[in-house]
Amino acid sequence: MTEATNATTGGSAWSGRFSEPVAELVQRYTASVFFDRRMWRQDIRGSLAHAAMLERQGIIGAADLADIRRGMTIIEAEIESGSFNWNLADEDVHLNIEKRLTALVGDAGKRLHTGRSRNDQVATDIRLWLRDEIDTIASRLDAYRAALLDLAAAHPDTPMPGFTHLQVAQPVTFGHHLLAYFEMATRDAGRLADCRRRTNRLPLGAAALAGTTYPIDREFVARELGFEGLCENSLDAVSDRDFAIEFCACAALAMMHLSRLSEELIIWMSPRVGFIDLADRFCTGSSIMPQKKNPDVPELARGKTGRVYGHLTGLLTLMKGQPLAYNKDNQEDKEPLFDTADTLRDTLTIFADMLRGVQVKPQSMLAALSQGYATATDLADYLVKKGLPFRDAHEAVARAVRLAEQRGCELDQLTLDELRSFSTLVDADVTQVLSVGGSLAARAHRGGTAPAAVRAAIGRARALLAGNAT
Ligand code: ARG
Repeated sequence: MTEATNATTGGSAWSGRFSEPVAELVQRYTASVFFDRRMWRQDIRGSLAHAAMLERQGIIGAADLADIRRGMTIIEAEIESGSFNWNLADEDVHLNIEKRLTALVGDAGKRLHTGRSRNDQVATDIRLWLRDEIDTIASRLDAYRAALLDLAAAHPDTPMPGFTHLQVAQPVTFGHHLLAYFEMATRDAGRLADCRRRTNRLPLGAAALAGTTYPIDREFVARELGFEGLCENSLDAVSDRDFAIEFCACAALAMMHLSRLSEELIIWMSPRVGFIDLADRFCTGSSIMPQKKNPDVPELARGKTGRVYGHLTGLLTLMKGQPLAYNKDNQEDKEPLFDTADTLRDTLTIFADMLRGVQVKPQSMLAALSQGYATATDLADYLVKKGLPFRDAHEAVARAVRLAEQRGCELDQLTLDELRSFSTLVDADVTQVLSVGGSLAARAHRGGTAPAAVRAAIGRARALLAGNAT
């Protein structure tokens, strides 16, 4: 077998250089086709753009380009129908497709790789793949944000206890609480959009590491593939995976936020708390305890967050010791990256749906608010507005709380005389101040929890999500 015929007769793409075939375990150890074939669409897209450029530049002939296009159409159909024969011996998605192309169209297939290396090819494929993934995730993130807004809009004035240290702190509205998660998700969306810009650059043309001697037109390829710009340095283009790591960092933050919400859903659904119920389709029962309804989905989301953090750490570690330029270590970038994207996408999808099935229990929220002196700060503020220095007001209210605690009652159950014993500034108008409704309504500034402020915030958020924020 001559070197020239290897590619069509079953030898590896580099068998001309070697005197014995690679050991079977080594073949399995080094192969990536069983996971990187997921990028087959991007690989074909990149090859077609590269081939079109080669033809425009007179590097290959028009007949070659036509053959390559014809072959790729067949390959596409084969992969889509499941009849494509993925072969471990051909290592990765790139060689599998190239080899099949050559089998289908002959020499034109062998010309495709002119002026290109798998190093810039794989970097291009990952960027194209990730760009598509980011777009899907961004739309799922929007759906999740819309679901948060819809639930918030149903509860702009539903009081619930706001917590610090997981202790009742001050009244908030459920809508306001949900809007906090909307803000987090909005920043997550912004981070992803940033990451997309840095991902969306063309590595092709870098070839193995130093560029190529052919008269290539990188700008043309970039335009064909929808890239916003070129990777400016060939060594950097083939070797760095910071865009993938950045994506995993964005995903880790987004999952962190989803995990915090998960934790709250789990607490809220605990029968001890009972603020909400999740629809049955997001829960499971117990095989032994008939009474159980477990919040499996939020628990899993919380658990999967750890897995995404692991992928981020894994990729950072993968990169840190690599000298320029490409090293095979980089083949290990794909599984963590793929899994991160899958996990984030699925979690967002399921959360958007799950939020629409949340059943809110305002009575339990209100009952929880009536224990824990949630309006104590309002009483202190009331005294301050009547002229008492804040520290003195704090002290007076603390003593009132102590009395209420001894009585086993709430502040608004103390008599006016009892309250006046802590400060003569207390008048009959204190009733409104100690009420949950009064406490909420008093925080009507932008970013506050008053129902009016929450309604206004929902309006701004909806405009932002619709893309016409002012
Ligand atoms: N499958 C390889 C990867 O994912 C493609 C690049 C291989 N290049 C090489 N010189 N071995 O990184």
